[in-house]
Amino acid sequence: MKGVVFNILEDMVTEKGGLQMWQKVLDKAGVDGGYTAVSTYSDDEMFSIVGAVVEELGIPAEEVIGAFGVYMFGQLASRYPVFTDSASDLFTFLESIDSVIHLEVKKLMTETNLPSISCTREGEKLLVMNYRSPRKLCILAEGLIYGAAEHYGCGIKIDHPVCMHKGADHCDLQVSLTDE
Ligand code: HEM
Repeated sequence: MKGVVFNILEDMVTEKGGLQMWQKVLDKAGVDGGYTAVSTYSDDEMFSIVGAVVEELGIPAEEVIGAFGVYMFGQLASRYPVFTDSASDLFTFLESIDSVIHLEVKKLMTETNLPSISCTREGEKLLVMNYRSPRKLCILAEGLIYGAAEHYGCGIKIDHPVCMHKGADHCDLQVSLTDE
C-alpha cells in the first residue's frame, strides 16, 4: 500500500485524537511510522495499524474502514483535484476510476497495488460497480464512493449483495441515486 494512504490515515487519527493517539496506535501496531507518499509499504503493516485504531477507538473494523474511505476521498480530491474537475457528475466520475484515475496513479507511481473496478449503468439512477482486489477492501471502496457522492452533492445508497468476504470472486456495489 502506498505511503500516501498511511499519511491520510495518520491525518484522520491525529485530527480525532491528536499526535498522542497516533503514537499509541503505532506502538500497538509495532511499526515506526515514517511513510513517504510514493513509497510502497506492506499491506500487513496497514492492516496492523487499522487493527490498532480499532482497539484504540473500540469501534468495529468495518466502521473504521468505511469512515476512513470517506475521509480518504476528501483528501485525495484536494490533493489531486484534476480528477473531480474533469467529471461533471457522480456516475461519470465513478466510471473513470479504473480507466482514468487509477491508470494515472499507475503512471505517476511505481509498484502500485490497485483494485480492478468496472462499472455498468443499469438505468439513470443505478450504477453497478464490480470490485476485485486481493486486499478485499470493498468497505474502503464504499467509503470512498460515499465521499465522492458528498463531493458531488448527491444522496446515494449502496447495496452490496455479492461480496468477496462471503466467498465470491468479486464484489458488486450497487450505487443508487436517492432523491435527497
Ligand atoms: C470513489 C472513488 C475511488 C474509489 C472507489 C477507489 C478505490 C480504491 C481502493 C478500494 C483502493 C485500495 C486498494 C485495493 O482495494 O486493492 C484504492 C487505492 C488507491 N487509490 Fe483509489 N479509489 C477512488 C478514487 C481515487 C482517487 C481520486 C485517487 C487520486 C489519485 C486515487 C488513488 C489511489 C491510490 C494512490 C491508491 C493506493 C494504491 C497503492 O497502494 O498502490 N483513488 N483506491
